Amino acid sequence: MKTLMLNPIDKDIETAGRILREGGLVAIPTETVYGLGANALNPSAVNKIFQAKGRPNDNPLIVHISDISQIKPLVKEIPEKAKMLMTDFWPGPLTIILPKTDIVPQETSGGLDTVAVRFPANETAQKIISCAGVPIAAPSANTSGLPSPTKAQHVFDDMDGKIDAILDGGECKVGVESTVITLATEKPRLLRPGGVTLEMLRDCIGEVELDDSVFAKLKEGERASSPGMKYKHYSPKADVVIVKGTYDAFKKYVNSLCSENVFALCFEGEENQLQVSATPFGKKGNAEEQAHFLFDALRKLDEMGAKIVFTRCPDKSGVGMAVYNRLIRAAAYRVIDLEKTIVLGLTGATGAGKGFLSKKLVAMGFEVIDTDKIAHQITEKGSPILQKLQRAFGEDILIDGELDRKLLAKRVFRDKKSQKLINSITHPEIIMISKEKIQLSEKNGQHRFIIDAPLLFESGMDKICNATIAVICPDERLRMARVIERDGISEEQAKVRMKSQPKDEFYTEKTDFVVVNDGKKDVDSQIINIFLKM
Ligand code: TXA
Ligand code: MG
Repeated sequence: MKTLMLNPIDKDIETAGRILREGGLVAIPTETVYGLGANALNPSAVNKIFQAKGRPNDNPLIVHISDISQIKPLVKEIPEKAKMLMTDFWPGPLTIILPKTDIVPQETSGGLDTVAVRFPANETAQKIISCAGVPIAAPSANTSGLPSPTKAQHVFDDMDGKIDAILDGGECKVGVESTVITLATEKPRLLRPGGVTLEMLRDCIGEVELDDSVFAKLKEGERASSPGMKYKHYSPKADVVIVKGTYDAFKKYVNSLCSENVFALCFEGEENQLQVSATPFGKKGNAEEQAHFLFDALRKLDEMGAKIVFTRCPDKSGVGMAVYNRLIRAAAYRVIDLEKTIVLGLTGATGAGKGFLSKKLVAMGFEVIDTDKIAHQITEKGSPILQKLQRAFGEDILIDGELDRKLLAKRVFRDKKSQKLINSITHPEIIMISKEKIQLSEKNGQHRFIIDAPLLFESGMDKICNATIAVICPDERLRMARVIERDGISEEQAKVRMKSQPKDEFYTEKTDFVVVNDGKKDVDSQIINIFLKM
């Protein structure tokens, strides 16, 4: 099929109206997003919409009108609250759901006994609907699942050859789809946030409930109040991940993962300081702008070839609720919160790459809790732990109040019982000090910590971790080469050292996550996956 390109001039508007009246499909501009229009009262015309979009048939369509009086034949009755909403917000980005009459076909209502009605503010849309002379069913004019189109070019990219015509009315002002409210439930309920905010609705009609699906994923088997909410949505081809936190934390995080596959979606002006390719979607704190640019930015990222996109998190208030609602779906609910305190315990055999991972995490904004240092600190001159050690291992382990570390080491060498005794004296103290350090840093705005402890589990340090990670390198030769290079020792010495260490299974059985650092598997993507699971 050849798709006709039309302009917002009278002649073309009449053509669009005629095609719609005769059962064809025309993409029309509205103030929210482009809609894929068909005669809402003609089942075979409506079916073509589902085909062109690849949309599931149980997902109902919004019926568009160009005059308030046109709602009357579509709905059973118009309650007082509907009248109040229509007065305040029509024409405009608000869709109202009411029990439907029989003239609205099941195809349009997705089998439901209600109908969603909207009177768009866009003048071209109004003229096209008037010319058609029938109410127009119009979902967003994108391929199902992709970001909604806010420019005629977006529609062309998705629909060329599949529909009769596209009328180019320029960029859509609002940029996200209309607010959807149902009055067919006991209490008015907001199903989809948009340009008309929850506050505006409450100011107009009083109590309005917020549907659970606005922010949260539907649970397995849960029924969607709005069928569209259960489907994958607004998703570019890339994996999108929302990153909550300050810009500084975001910057550090994203820059540390810099690679050709990693992209960022950020607020205007922030892209200059990011080392990855970034696309802005409006100014920070300006939800209207963010809504306007969001879908275009998501489509741009696909054009740029993004594989993974880290995005800044918008405020959820006002129109921001709509922006967040779309973004969280684009992200398939993947959120990394840099302001949630996370303590990671790292463990693994020598040469596997604990140090390497630790460095990477530091670059990402983690602070290392150095347990070796703490162990030293608590056995310094004058510390109470020394008295305990003295009682256990003899007066002479102190010389002038200083611990004779060599002597102590000799005394406990190869004696499991003595080692246990030392540990039982020092480990609780090390844990306590680690906790204090974490609390102090938290007060200064630090939220992410790593505990690099060779004896993570034996010491009980794992108990203060949110998650534990084993770093392994199944390639023994590579591990040995690393140890030789790092410590400047001979192959023989390295062999002895490696032999004294537990096998990989010892670590992987106990830890929550495993990072394979064999020089082949990409470590960054393993780290990202771990964060997404926490
Ligand atoms: O701004 C908009 O509303 C755009 C423009 C083109 O007007 N249209 C739009 O349509 O976003 P669509 O089909 O992409 O989204 C309609 C949403 C879907 O989530 C659908 O499930 C819901 O409204 N919906 C429609 N009729 C419904 C009904 N009777 N009950 C519950 N939800 C309904
Ligand atoms: Mg849609």
